[in-house]
Amino acid sequence: ACAAGGQETVVIGLAADSGCGKSTFMRRLTSVFGGAAEPPKGGNPDSNTLISDTTTVICLDDYHSLDRTGRKEKGVTALDPRANDFDLMYEQVKAMKDGKAVDKPIYNHVSGLLDPPELIKPPKILVIEGLHPMYDQRVRDLLDFSIYLDISNEVKFAWKIQRDMAERGHSLESIKASIEARKPDFDAYIDPQKQYADAVIEVLPTELIPGDNEGKVLRVRLIMKEGVKFFNPVYLFDEGSTISWIPCGRKLTCSYPGIKFTYGPDTYYGHEVSVLEMDGQFDRLDELIYVESHLSNISTKFYGEVTQQMLKHSDFPGSNNGTGLFQTIVGLKIRDLYEQLIASKAKRPAEAKA
Ligand code: ADP
Ligand code: G6P
Repeated sequence: ACAAGGQETVVIGLAADSGCGKSTFMRRLTSVFGGAAEPPKGGNPDSNTLISDTTTVICLDDYHSLDRTGRKEKGVTALDPRANDFDLMYEQVKAMKDGKAVDKPIYNHVSGLLDPPELIKPPKILVIEGLHPMYDQRVRDLLDFSIYLDISNEVKFAWKIQRDMAERGHSLESIKASIEARKPDFDAYIDPQKQYADAVIEVLPTELIPGDNEGKVLRVRLIMKEGVKFFNPVYLFDEGSTISWIPCGRKLTCSYPGIKFTYGPDTYYGHEVSVLEMDGQFDRLDELIYVESHLSNISTKFYGEVTQQMLKHSDFPGSNNGTGLFQTIVGLKIRDLYEQLIASKAKRPAEAKA
């Protein structure tokens, strides 16, 4: 009945600093939706886009208005809003939400230049991932759900060292310096977006090992906003209670320092939230089923789906701890939200396109 043939694009925002696990999260999410996302076929090999049957993931670096040289000349970082074109970001996300294809620019991470645009058709689910999905209010208002990956400085540092030192040959000093150089703009423009997120995954050093700041064992918190349409927060044992649970013992194998879950209501930037926390790591991933069976509202389609997803991608970073577990659960919650949104629109076809 309408121009877009009834197709509605659900838009998800995923914000985080670079090197904080966005692409890993995207791989878990698209897997939940039933298929790995791949770069567009026959297009620019440096495209940042990933496409599956249901989902298109676009990288917001493509909306850089200043290329690498331009940023150098003007003395602004990629995190600075002045290096990004929010008008175009808004127009194109809005167009796709309305069922229209767009010619999206490509920021080439290899050359640091803006390449000729690529045609992006409106998918069922559009994920916009990057530094600023919730920065501009117009873009933010287009999001059906938003997630912020909040990696604490200690952990960010540990991950950067692991990647940039081990894999890219950078020195410890240069990694420290690059994190320090980003910090003022990160604090000013990226971090504040977490107040708008429907779900925040916060990654901190463990509290199970006193004084630990190695960033190997992690304490991960899933902060879920209350009152978000089609999103019912996950809970442990009893909704709304405050719970502390150590699952180690006869049913779950734990080596030092063990595993501790906590759950309860809290407030976050003035919003009511529920927080599920996992500190520590799993020794045996197949035993995760024991933890899964004690969680409620996880939006699985069959018993053990969380464990199955985690086992399927046990090679992804974070699979033995709360980062992988909570990314997987948020993926299932997004599938559920998507299905409810589509069902609610199907019931009200006249209003849906008003
Ligand atoms: P982004 O897309 O945000 O740049 P990636 O998903 O590519 O981030 O992850 C960047 C690097 O950070 C990985 O190669 C890995 O070294 C590290 N990393 C990401 N997620 C985790 C995790 N959950 N646990 C440990 N290391 C991680
Ligand atoms: C992208 C990333 C930024 C990174 C930048 C490098 O835009 O998203 O996180 O800082 O590239 O910019 P540079 O000016 O150092 O090439």
